[in-house]
Amino acid sequence: MTDVIEQQPGLLTKGYAAASTGAPLTPFTFTRREPRADDVVIDIKYCGICHSDIHQVRDEWGGSVFPMVPGHEIAGIVSRVGAAVTKFKTGDHVGVGCFVDSGRSDGSATAAIEQYQPGVAFTYNSTEKDGTPTLGGYSDKIVVKEDYVLRIPENLPLDAAAPLLCAGITLYSPLKHWGAGPGKNVAIIGLGGLGHMGVKYAHALGAHVTVLSQSLSKQADGKRLGADAYFATSDKATFTKLANTFDLIINTVSAPLDWSAYLGLLKIDGTMVVVGIPDAPIPLGAFPLVRGRRSLAGSMIGSIAETQEMLDFSGAHNIVSDIETIDFSYVNKAFDRVVASDVRYRFVIDIASLRDDAAPRP
Ligand SMILES: NC(=O)c1ccc[n+]([C@@H]2O[C@H](COP(=O)([O-])OP(=O)(O)OC[C@H]3O[C@@H](n4cnc5c(N)ncnc54)[C@H](OP(=O)(O)O)[C@@H]3O)[C@@H](O)[C@H]2O)c1
Ligand SMILES: [Zn+2]
Repeated sequence: MTDVIEQQPGLLTKGYAAASTGAPLTPFTFTRREPRADDVVIDIKYCGICHSDIHQVRDEWGGSVFPMVPGHEIAGIVSRVGAAVTKFKTGDHVGVGCFVDSGRSDGSATAAIEQYQPGVAFTYNSTEKDGTPTLGGYSDKIVVKEDYVLRIPENLPLDAAAPLLCAGITLYSPLKHWGAGPGKNVAIIGLGGLGHMGVKYAHALGAHVTVLSQSLSKQADGKRLGADAYFATSDKATFTKLANTFDLIINTVSAPLDWSAYLGLLKIDGTMVVVGIPDAPIPLGAFPLVRGRRSLAGSMIGSIAETQEMLDFSGAHNIVSDIETIDFSYVNKAFDRVVASDVRYRFVIDIASLRDDAAPRP
């Protein structure tokens, strides 16, 4: 796609966009709004690649809007603040996650569950309250209301902290909500971007952590990240060995999976929380649920307050993502590698690679 420059006043912004369903990402220039009184302008330094970016660029969930600038794992530095901003100043390390507004602003949403309520404006592939399409963090700057900007603890490097804004909170929230902690047996299905953060947080919260991965190829990494046990789901014996074992299972898998088989691994009253969002419905048997009063639940990211709690917890425990930093020129290849489960464990785009004079990464 050639550069597109909208004839509107505002902040000239460089990024990468997909022009249509499944199209490769190519350079794209657009304008952000001039900051209003309550806005923060962020000079984006890094943006993580979430599997949700790929689902949406490929329109696997339906309803995608193009051109699409993906990216909701944004880490950067405040470059400007509006006159009424009180929480941030120039130079602060900040992040933006999956949404840039919610019904909280007009009182129609409850802050603690704002991400589930009508009125949420996602960071891209969505619209602001005034109808403006949102464009995400695969770009060099973003303008966001201060209430939706997160503070990144200064001891965390911005590149490895970027994935906390989605992968981090998506695992932290259900682990906290369903009481992961000492004495609890927790399993994480899928050791990808979300899964590896789940291992770190469940371990830090004091739970006994098991990884359920397709193979044992990442076992040493799993143990290093904090797992107490690691099993291959390609081995049928895993499902008999681990029957009735877990209080909580978090399922991060992006592809269709036999959920019934995994429900059988829960103890009585155990819960499997689905956070992975495959593009096809999953057939489910009743027996694995009724035999054990088990629950099947879902969870989506977290509120702004809980995301800040997660970032502060991460700062206190020195938790960041394991990343592979890439230039924009590699982004389409990176998408394919994520889909092939070939990522250790999150790709993060170095936004400086947008500069015309940027030296290519070796
Ligand atoms: N609910 C939310 O709020 C939320 C937020 C962010 C993302 N998501 C969704 O969560 C999913 C995971 O995102 P991610 O960024 O962590 O993706 P990811 O890095 O690709 O990780 C997914 C992992 O699932 C496993 N997997 C992939 N294909 C599989 C298959 N066919 N059968 C069994 N296991 C398979 C792989 O782990 P192993 O190699 O270890 O088996 C892979 O590493 C995506 O669907 C994404 O859209 C949801
Ligand atoms: Zn995400």
